[in-house]
Amino acid sequence: MKYKSQKVAYWFFGLCMLLFTLQIVYGFIMGFARIGMDGLHDIIPFNTARAVHTNLLVVWLLTGFMGAAYYIIPEEAQRELVNVKLAYVQLISLALVGVVAIVGYHFNYWEGRKFLEIPRELDYLVVVNVLLFLGLILATLFKGKRRTTTALVLTMGLVFAALLYLPGMIWFDSQVTDSFFRWWVVHLWVEGVWELIMGGILSYLLIKLTGVDREVIEKWLYVIIGLTFLSGLLGTGHHYYYIGVNKIWLIVGGIFSALEPLAFLAMALFAVYMYRKGEKSHPNKVALFWTIGASIVSFIGAGLLGFAHTLPQTNIYTHGTLVTAMHGHYAFWGAYAMIVLAIISYAMPNITGRKRFDSKLAHAAFWLSNVGMLGMTVAFGVAGVAQVYLERKFKMEFMEVQSEIEVHFVVLLLCASLFATGIGLYIYEFFKYGKPSDEALKVNTH
Ligand code: HEM
Ligand code: HEM
Ligand SMILES: [Fe+2]
Repeated sequence: MKYKSQKVAYWFFGLCMLLFTLQIVYGFIMGFARIGMDGLHDIIPFNTARAVHTNLLVVWLLTGFMGAAYYIIPEEAQRELVNVKLAYVQLISLALVGVVAIVGYHFNYWEGRKFLEIPRELDYLVVVNVLLFLGLILATLFKGKRRTTTALVLTMGLVFAALLYLPGMIWFDSQVTDSFFRWWVVHLWVEGVWELIMGGILSYLLIKLTGVDREVIEKWLYVIIGLTFLSGLLGTGHHYYYIGVNKIWLIVGGIFSALEPLAFLAMALFAVYMYRKGEKSHPNKVALFWTIGASIVSFIGAGLLGFAHTLPQTNIYTHGTLVTAMHGHYAFWGAYAMIVLAIISYAMPNITGRKRFDSKLAHAAFWLSNVGMLGMTVAFGVAGVAQVYLERKFKMEFMEVQSEIEVHFVVLLLCASLFATGIGLYIYEFFKYGKPSDEALKVNTH
């Protein structure tokens, strides 16, 4: 840590750990409900659990991105954050909106569009919160001594992500129009601007961890952004196949979304290549594992498993089944969860000044969570393919199919337990580092 204000990041990361834990709890509630153990049904029905699970996911990832920005931007811009107090105000208001939203779901106060369920009043609070965040980041960047490509790409990703939240706030009476614009948020986030955020964090981490020249690393970043926009924008069409819009999207969506894996492939090659080129002398090996891991797992989860159901000929069968859940889990895990866990692993020793790199537990956390999530992905996948055949090929009743595939949820829960053990260890390690300290400023950071 070189700047005092980077300590703010710690509290965002802490909030991140808390929300992540809650997300996993709701995952288990759904998993158990799927095998008939739904004792909580009257308090937390499946649809509530599902909305809370996915919304918590989005919120903890965004909290992680914000923490990452508060950590990275001062160092890249070579100056303290313009206003540290306001950053804490932003943190607290973010946590409050989160709590109100979660409580609200349980009383059925609100029901919105999948992934974007919070009501308008809270939306406005989110907008104010995000404006405050962006104001602090942009002011720091532009008053700073340096404007690096890495910092600009990260900030651009965050600004565009905020702008794209707006179409999700407009309501349309037509279900088709409504669905059309929901994807501007959901798809253009994860297959567009969030990739810039990931690219920015990845680039920062590779510069620090491999020791390869910034110029080389940042050149790759341009290639990745180019590929992302080329494929991801019109790739939105893979959600428009059968929702009632013009049929041209069958062709446009098919072609462009089939190109999307290229951006993720570029990211994986980029990370592996830089690692091989680098000095391999950085002591924080765990951060390196998470970083390279994110680039590879995102290619599998988003690129390959996304491609598996992106052509209209396949999607007509798989749409809205557990095949989607299979892809959703591994893509979110690889691309966004792992990159957030990577930057936290990198930042923690520097923020706290305690160099407990590479503990056995930290490595166990990496492997258990990854093996667990891979197993969960396979369980969802097998259940999904069985569901497609029984329901859509052999025209079995929906609920009958659901009980046929129950056994796969037993496997899912076993793998989820491995996963949760891994994350438990990660969080234990996080708290074991202790609080951030100004002493850390004196420790030489890599
Ligand atoms: C990190 C990037 C990605 C993430 C986090 C992600 C996540 C998700 C999620 C959560 C859904 C379900 C959305 C909903 O129904 O509301 C979904 C759907 C979908 N994704 Fe991705 N995805 C990513 C990248 C990709 C890529 C690169 C492709 C194609 C190559 C792809 C293809 C699809 C398709 C075709 C659907 C629709 C499934 C259906 O019809 O039910 N995704 N994705
Ligand atoms: C203990 C761990 C977890 C369990 C047991 C679990 C279980 C589930 C279940 C049962 C669903 C509903 C599927 C359905 O519609 O029937 C779901 C949805 C979802 N979960 Fe998880 N989950 C866990 C962790 C995670 C993690 C760590 C992530 C992200 C990195 C994640 C991302 C998602 C997403 C994106 C959806 C919505 C998928 C879709 O739209 O099709 N889950 N989860
Ligand atoms: Fe998409």
